[in-house]
Amino acid sequence: MRPVTYQKTREGEISVGGVPLRDLAQEFGTPLYVMDYQTLMENIARYRQVLEGWGTAYYAGKAFCCRAMVELVDRQGLGLDVVSGGELFTALTAGLDPGRVLFHGNVKTAAEIRAGLEVGVGHFVVDSLDELHQLDEAARAMGRTAAVLLRLTPGIEAHTHEFVRTGQFDSKFGFAIADGIADQAVAVALRMGNIELKGFHAHIGSQILDTEPLVANAEALLTFSGQVLQRFGFWPEVLDLGGGIGVRYGESDDPPDVTDLMTRVRMALGELTPRGMRPPHIIVEPGRSIVAEAGLTLYTVEAVKTVPGGREYIAVDGGMGDNIRPALYQAQYAAELDQKAGDTPERQVTVAGRYCETGDILIPSIRLPDPARGDLLAMWGTGAYNYAMASSYNRVPRPAVVLVNDGEASLWVDRERWDDLTRRDRPLRPA
Ligand code: LLP
Repeated sequence: MRPVTYQKTREGEISVGGVPLRDLAQEFGTPLYVMDYQTLMENIARYRQVLEGWGTAYYAGKAFCCRAMVELVDRQGLGLDVVSGGELFTALTAGLDPGRVLFHGNVKTAAEIRAGLEVGVGHFVVDSLDELHQLDEAARAMGRTAAVLLRLTPGIEAHTHEFVRTGQFDSKFGFAIADGIADQAVAVALRMGNIELKGFHAHIGSQILDTEPLVANAEALLTFSGQVLQRFGFWPEVLDLGGGIGVRYGESDDPPDVTDLMTRVRMALGELTPRGMRPPHIIVEPGRSIVAEAGLTLYTVEAVKTVPGGREYIAVDGGMGDNIRPALYQAQYAAELDQKAGDTPERQVTVAGRYCETGDILIPSIRLPDPARGDLLAMWGTGAYNYAMASSYNRVPRPAVVLVNDGEASLWVDRERWDDLTRRDRPLRPA
């Protein structure tokens, strides 16, 4: 929930990465996204250690992507999962070897496919027969070969606390194993002159709090591979299990232990690899489980008001523009006020955002110690899908991102400014 470097003094002064929140607000302003280096490193290390020698983690850039994050991913020896030309461009700007990039997405435009081939991305994850044909043709025209993983839907639906295996899985993503379309895609891919089929991919959902469906996904891919071996004599070099491992947004969340989970996957790999075959190299694509708990958002309380009926609102200087998740998914977050001593009496309040929508509520109900105008509110666990999904709705500029480590803060992304918002605007032409 909170970054590993979180500290709070008896007077209630909170610091992260050795930097007091008050200093961050003073130097960089609010709202502010803060990322904790130590938490990022620990989360990355967990994947690296357990996968050593048999798998690779490709960080899912969609969770939080900026140049410095890709540089960090690069230095830590991870690969990168990108889903657009923009994420690919960011990776190249950061100097990442394109061979360590996996190009995802159910839509890749002709320009994106060409760019991917041109720079030589390591793998394309192909989502449809149309894309397969398009990629083959583009590769032929450019005299290249595209290394491909086919995206499959194994019919495992992962919910927070349950999972069901369904014969049919209605999804816009991938080739369903159940209806034979996955078989067909393998047959087509194997016949193509400029496609080199490397293996299979399946991603079954996000913020998954159970280990079972994630292990079942690995088993399903291995079982399918066994059938493909019998039918086509093809055995995958690579199996990519996607991302989706959940994190703690609140005290009661109990996400899977990455080390346990991957150890179970490794056992399944041993058991389900047919005799005489080499176990495929395993790829995982963690996004949220690397960045979510490393991040927090710092807001200033701008107004406190009680409405008829007794509900008390505290309005902060950010909201759905920097964090769309409560409005979009009813996502729940924990938060804390800075500089409130432990004995300050608490009140039940609603944390409201600044955007012109009734639905812009960040936290519907939370107990906070005597909230007042000017207070600093830290919202925990905002490192994933917050900055990445931010907008400039209401023409409110997007916040800056700072990294904290060892008592120092450094800018990762500058705060957007008013003139950034009008930079691409053109004047009305004279009539
Ligand atoms: N791989 C694939 C193919 C994916 O589609 C995703 C996420 C990931 C990896 C990374 O999943 P993670 O480890 O971060 O769960 N905006 C939503 C989450 C959308 C996830 C989309 N795909 C949210 O804010 O909860």
